[in-house]
Amino acid sequence: MALFNLTINGKSQQVDVDPSTPMLWVLRDHLDLVGTKFGCGIAQCGACTIHLDGNAIRSCQLPVSAAEGAQITTIEGLSENGDHPVQQAWLEHDVPQCGYCQAGQIMSAAALLAQNPNPSDTDIDNAMNGNICRCGTYTRIKAAIHTASK
Ligand code: FES
Repeated sequence: MALFNLTINGKSQQVDVDPSTPMLWVLRDHLDLVGTKFGCGIAQCGACTIHLDGNAIRSCQLPVSAAEGAQITTIEGLSENGDHPVQQAWLEHDVPQCGYCQAGQIMSAAALLAQNPNPSDTDIDNAMNGNICRCGTYTRIKAAIHTASK
């Protein structure tokens, strides 16, 4: 075990965990930030996507020891009141079906738009193809990203 000082959603947090603990479990089990989901645990599904210094990353593959000193953002910290343009577009397009993958989808989409405010369909496909949706909401996801980009 070791102490780690983290900055999560703009707040300083300290956790005492094994250095190899994935951020996914630090968030969920130690900090009660359960909006970030466990899907596969092997970087294949995108359900656990968070932002590390603004980049979308898989928290199931990020050891806590690699997160010190970075700005970490989870779905809980993406906006104050769920009013990030991506979240508003998600509501407008009624994107989720079961909802399980959607926090990860939204985090990937928000990172894409921060880096590329007017993505083409191909840009969206390239940015989002690591986020799997078992319900197949991909068409609505793409439409919502275009709406959020306006
Ligand atoms: Fe991390 Fe699937 S739980 S990519």
